[in-house]
Amino acid sequence: MLKAKFTALKSKIREEAVNALFDRLMRAGQERHGRKPFDANELKLIRQALNSQNLCCIDGQMVSSFEKEFANLYGVPYGVASTSGTAAIHVALGALDLNPGDEVITAPITDLGTVIPILYQNCIPVFADIDDSYNMDPADVERKITPRTRAIVLVHLFGNPCDMDAMAEIAKRHRIPLIEDCSQAHLAEYKGKYVGTIGDIGCFSFQQSKQMTTGDGGMTITSNASYYERMKLFADKGYARKGWGPRAYLFHAPNYRMNELVGAVGLAQLKKIEGVIQKRRDLGGRMSSLLCGLEGVTPAPITPGARHSYWFYPIRLEGVDVDCFARKMAEEQVWVMPGYTGKPIYLCSESLTAKKTYGTSQWPFTCHGADAKYEYQEGLCPRAEEALQHMICVPLDESWTKREVERVVAAIRKTLMSMAAPKASDSVEVMERTDSTAVCGNGKAMRIALIGCGQIGRWHLDSYKKDPHAKVVAVADSDFSRAQAFANEIGAKPYSSHQAMIANEGLDGASVCTFPSTHAAIAIDLLNAGIHVLCEKPLAVSVDQAEAMTTAAKEKQRLLLTAFKFRFFDEVTNAKALIDQGELGKILSFRLMFGGYLDMAGTWFAQKELSGGGVIMDNGPHAFDLIHYLFGEIENITAEARTSQPIEVEDTAKLTVSLAGGAVGVVDLSWSVAVPSQSYLEIYGEDGTALLDPEGMSYRLKSLNEWKRVSNRVGIQEAFARQINHFIDALRGQPPSIVGNGEGVASQAVITAAYESIEQNRKVNVAGNRILLSD
Ligand SMILES: Cc1ncc(COP(=O)(O)O)c(C=O)c1O
Repeated sequence: MLKAKFTALKSKIREEAVNALFDRLMRAGQERHGRKPFDANELKLIRQALNSQNLCCIDGQMVSSFEKEFANLYGVPYGVASTSGTAAIHVALGALDLNPGDEVITAPITDLGTVIPILYQNCIPVFADIDDSYNMDPADVERKITPRTRAIVLVHLFGNPCDMDAMAEIAKRHRIPLIEDCSQAHLAEYKGKYVGTIGDIGCFSFQQSKQMTTGDGGMTITSNASYYERMKLFADKGYARKGWGPRAYLFHAPNYRMNELVGAVGLAQLKKIEGVIQKRRDLGGRMSSLLCGLEGVTPAPITPGARHSYWFYPIRLEGVDVDCFARKMAEEQVWVMPGYTGKPIYLCSESLTAKKTYGTSQWPFTCHGADAKYEYQEGLCPRAEEALQHMICVPLDESWTKREVERVVAAIRKTLMSMAAPKASDSVEVMERTDSTAVCGNGKAMRIALIGCGQIGRWHLDSYKKDPHAKVVAVADSDFSRAQAFANEIGAKPYSSHQAMIANEGLDGASVCTFPSTHAAIAIDLLNAGIHVLCEKPLAVSVDQAEAMTTAAKEKQRLLLTAFKFRFFDEVTNAKALIDQGELGKILSFRLMFGGYLDMAGTWFAQKELSGGGVIMDNGPHAFDLIHYLFGEIENITAEARTSQPIEVEDTAKLTVSLAGGAVGVVDLSWSVAVPSQSYLEIYGEDGTALLDPEGMSYRLKSLNEWKRVSNRVGIQEAFARQINHFIDALRGQPPSIVGNGEGVASQAVITAAYESIEQNRKVNVAGNRILLSD
């Protein structure tokens, strides 16, 4: 008894000593800067593998345990380890026993490792274009199906799952096996299931950059026993290891066996992967909430019903050259990848563009003779080509802190501002007229002009491009090269003066996206010429100017809509419906916060003569308009402001507003807050609470015991485009139903009252600042 105790104690002491020794041996690695996926846990298992005096998986324990434990984690019966993600996909295709010349539909944005196995099986990759998630668009997958299609290899890009309901339904209906390339999507989920377990076969890469890594390595998982039989054989030369007698290789196959050292590392990594993904999710979520609302920036998309696992964090940028942007970010000590692979994968490899495959045979592309031609060139997947031109990838990983995320977002803001400050039109210059194919008049495309080709002008332009009833025929910017760049893109005519443009173009409508201080003069010129106006916020820099604009609109019976984009966002529409239906009861109070750190020094926003003011002039219009739209008229306001950055205008303000209906609310506006709150608007009613964030609305009614969540149906870009459609529809004779002519003045009156309150250090009645509110 005593002896047993003593032996146990001895082995415990020994184990602790060994652990301490392993920790010590790995200390240098742990002191490195950045990602440190490996530690003493890997070392211990590697030592165990070495001590077994066998590193081949055939007779070893490590790889077979790794296969079992990996499959267990994913809740499937079978896993086959291999040497890379590319090999894992090849193993999956090997299981399908395809014929040369069979077509395999796959993704245009991916690593070449998705495509190589298709070609090695002498099959033909067919690329389906993407949707807004950057993943394959199920509708295009279906369009690309032909009688030769024998498999779909979808890719959960960057860790964001594909729309698996749609994909699985299409695959099932056409009886095509569905392979999931989860190389970038470890533990990503779709509707409660791990990706890789929804299709027929799932494939993973353990290459160094992946969420879990063995340096290089791969795994193929399935629930299908007959696929598993072939997968196991395929990774091992097709070798049926049946003991004595002549060997039997059952079909042509490579050797992709993982060795025991790699298996040992894989086993150790499996213990960490859940923590790694949790950390990446926290960081990715933080990044999205900080980026949301930044004009010209679309955060990483998340497929409805999915949980992202953030391999990289993709961002879409409007109005900047992404290579140039990445170079400028490097000056801020932030490394981002412009365009991921730069071009869609079918343009990156000469195995496709020049069909350099097996000698000069061009096989398998030639295997159907003249029957079928396969060309891999520009235009094959236009949405993918376009998306990559606007994409940067942030290589976020689990070693980051939230602070680093905030630093990256601050650098993004700063870089965007330095690259895309709009210039107002200020000189009269007529450029030579070019032919324009646009038409106007009843039933035809509206002739639209864009004035101001900066970041917000880009959002307007991209939205007009998508409206079939609009044609942007002219663009103006006092920096003529900016106008030219926009004009070249859409075949419009560039101007450096809005007056020249008005005189020449016979316009129906115009978007004004210049500095606020120029809005009044430009809008009045347009209105006087009989042109409808959609004006960026703030409508003007004073109530006098805003009223002069509204008077001109009234006299000329033209539209003067302010670009109050929030009214078009799903979370706002949903909140309005709750309020209007009385679900929240009487609104008692609310808290609105538009905040985030923005380095304003040197930007036009901070120059009062251009911007008209600081953060109250910049973010106030949206804030006050939202309050007005959702809760009713603002009666009075008390404001305080601070300037913490070295700029001449206020960068932080706290405002208390009282509403005619009795509610009171607090509005926090800041360019100097590093961490804005998760929900930008909290609404407290007698019967319930609603919290609005950029991805949706959460609410809880008194009568409900739980929070409900309504996710937004569309992303920011699509929501933004709705206000452009609303303007164009109004031009075509449908009275504007969401924003009207008077509303720009209403929010201007509150802004003016806020500044008065700061100056006079007292509560200010808003109605005194407002004359023209009737229409
Ligand atoms: C989507 C995708 N598929 C396949 C692969 C190929 O994996 P590996 O590099 O491990 O062969 C990768 C790796 O980068 C990938 O990201």
